[in-house]
Amino acid sequence: MTAEPSTRVMTATAAAITEAVRCLMAGGLVAFPTETVYGLGADATNGTAVARLYHAKGRPAFNPLISHVPDAATAHRLGAFDSAATQLAEAFWPGPLTLVLPRLPSCPVAELATAGLDTIALRVPNHGVARDLLAEFGRPIVAPSANRSGHVSPTTAPHVLADLRGRIDLVLDDGPAPVGIESTIVACLGEPIILRPGGLPRAKLECVLGQSLADRTPLSEEPGDGEAPLAPGQLASHYAPSTPLRLNVRSIEAGEVLLAFGPSVPPGAERAARMMNLSPGGDLIEAAANLFAYLRTLDAAGATAIAVTRIPDDGLGDAINDRLRRAAAPRA
Ligand code: TXA
Ligand code: MG
Repeated sequence: MTAEPSTRVMTATAAAITEAVRCLMAGGLVAFPTETVYGLGADATNGTAVARLYHAKGRPAFNPLISHVPDAATAHRLGAFDSAATQLAEAFWPGPLTLVLPRLPSCPVAELATAGLDTIALRVPNHGVARDLLAEFGRPIVAPSANRSGHVSPTTAPHVLADLRGRIDLVLDDGPAPVGIESTIVACLGEPIILRPGGLPRAKLECVLGQSLADRTPLSEEPGDGEAPLAPGQLASHYAPSTPLRLNVRSIEAGEVLLAFGPSVPPGAERAARMMNLSPGGDLIEAAANLFAYLRTLDAAGATAIAVTRIPDDGLGDAINDRLRRAAAPRA
């Protein structure tokens, strides 16, 4: 099997890891092995790289991503650990455990990677290649499972290629992933709860915490890689601006701020108290990278509404419009 020239496959030697680091630094996409499944990595601090990653996976919506770090000390600079989180991290990191924690204000991870949430999912993988890559890269790496959205998670490099050949830059091949199912996700945002069962059994978690753990009841049973039940719209804490949104506007009302897309801005734009353009050139990947940060900025402007111009539905436009509709939906 030979890959198309656009996706390289390299045996995960030290030289290949250095090449992967170079690729990530340049905003590229690198699939790499972890002990659970192969992940599709991007520089977590680079919003455009993260947008490319969603595009490559073909995600219908911006599911929040797990930020991978080389050790617990690094994780403590990104999220706020309570005592349960500290105990779990000490007991199981590195390993197949992901912790969802409050995001620290100084956390440099792109807003798009956490889908605009105030929480962040953190994981220290227990795999030599993943850890060498993280240590050498020196920044957090977001990595969903390296499959097309809705497909099963890949446990070998050929699985990755079957789904993503020609859509990503590089695959580091180190044979089969030893655990073979994704990490167990535990939210520590109050009473700890299991968000996704996975490679770390419940009994081990309960033993360390000295208590039984509640499950989040899945809202839908989805085959595939278990992403659907955790879609951001189903998360209680999902980010929504407090300023009302008006979508698909053709003109601007007094007192509004404007979120524009593309080269042509609607009539009355000069009346807007503030205008931000997601992508003046009309690039949906650039627009996705800017979306959550721009919404936050405009939300803070004290306007009567955020007027949003029409955004096409193709490519990442689908996911952008999904998030805008959620943000515009009436709240209880
Ligand atoms: O084993 C794994 O966890 C693999 C390897 C590559 O590390 N990664 C993985 O990522 O399974 P992914 O994107 O396929 O699944 C991550 C899950 C998604 O269901 C997502 O909704 C959830 O984690 N998630 C991420 N951030 C979250 C947050 N802040 N709150 C709640 N759920 C979150
Ligand atoms: Mg997945």
